[in-house]
Amino acid sequence: MSQAAWAIRFARVAKRYGSLAVVDDVSFDVPRGTCVVILGPSGCGKTTLLKTVNRLSEPTSGDVFVDGRNTATAEATALRRKIGYVIQHVGLFPHMTVAENVSVVPSLLGWPKEKRAARTDELLDLVHLDAPRYRGRYPRQLSGGQQQRVGLARALAADPTILLMDEPFGAVDAIERAHLQREMIDLQTRLHKTIIFVTHDVDEALRLADRIVIMRAGKVEQYDTPVNVLASPASDFVAQLVDSDNVLRRLSIIKVEAAMAPPSASPSGRPHTAISADASLQQALSLMIGTACDSLSVVGGTADVVGRLSMAQIRAAVTPAPTAS
Ligand SMILES: Nc1ncnc2c1ncn2[C@@H]1O[C@H](COP(=O)(O)OP(=O)(O)OP(=O)(O)O)[C@@H](O)[C@H]1O
Ligand SMILES: [Mg+2]
Repeated sequence: MSQAAWAIRFARVAKRYGSLAVVDDVSFDVPRGTCVVILGPSGCGKTTLLKTVNRLSEPTSGDVFVDGRNTATAEATALRRKIGYVIQHVGLFPHMTVAENVSVVPSLLGWPKEKRAARTDELLDLVHLDAPRYRGRYPRQLSGGQQQRVGLARALAADPTILLMDEPFGAVDAIERAHLQREMIDLQTRLHKTIIFVTHDVDEALRLADRIVIMRAGKVEQYDTPVNVLASPASDFVAQLVDSDNVLRRLSIIKVEAAMAPPSASPSGRPHTAISADASLQQALSLMIGTACDSLSVVGGTADVVGRLSMAQIRAAVTPAPTAS
């Protein structure tokens, strides 16, 4: 991958505490403007690996590059300025108001008061918090989900190109978590940040990731797209972790586009019900059941027919391939 194509590169990164390697020979690239999710069980080294990017943890060996530059030679403060960081367990300053929390970095950067205030309101709006109502509150006066939103706004304050998010939605209930995930996806389609997102929630990883890094005991087990991780798990560990033979999960993740067949050469007389190439197989299946139609026309962005989808293609797509090991 050329330098311009990736924002972060891990090259044989290891972190040892005594004789224990908690990050062990990790190499992968994070393409610019994409969201890479690090997924793995507790204690496998996710947070430690994430912290090597902004030098909160120095690798024992190996190198981390940000925008083509080795972080070992970068000035830590300058580096952190272009990297937003949402830490595990929120980490808002309890004695500061929402506005003060959000403008921590702009204050450090010496922005004038009016610019800080305007930026704070803009960011609260971005994360769906009503600024007049919330900017003067203290963290204890917010729900868990609202606190997470403030944490995200704070990380975005100085408009970093890179966001490191360590289990940012770990402390909220399932419904609020789903809201936050949807908002993240919306935000990302507008902002195109390079994001490394840590979680041990498989569904969250599958939902948010352009690519997933699966870690086990400090090592990378697989680095691939969500669809490929489900369809071709690299090991039994990965298959078990993502529960790759879970048909419902596969239906909700795999897109129609990935499962469809080419458009038929001789369209049958009966007009087919149409589904977007972007829809999930679950949506396709609901449509088939709802319309009693066992074959759908797949339409692309310009409403042209780009393929067709029948039960046979859905079945093939959700049947897991045998694992590689
Ligand atoms: N400063 C330290 N000294 C010694 N061991 C450490 C230190 N920091 C982390 N570890 C160990 O390194 C391992 C990886 O920790 P890390 O926090 O990176 O895991 P994690 O994958 O983020 O886990 P979780 O999902 O629970 O947050 C753990 O076994 C942890 O105990
Ligand atoms: Mg952690």
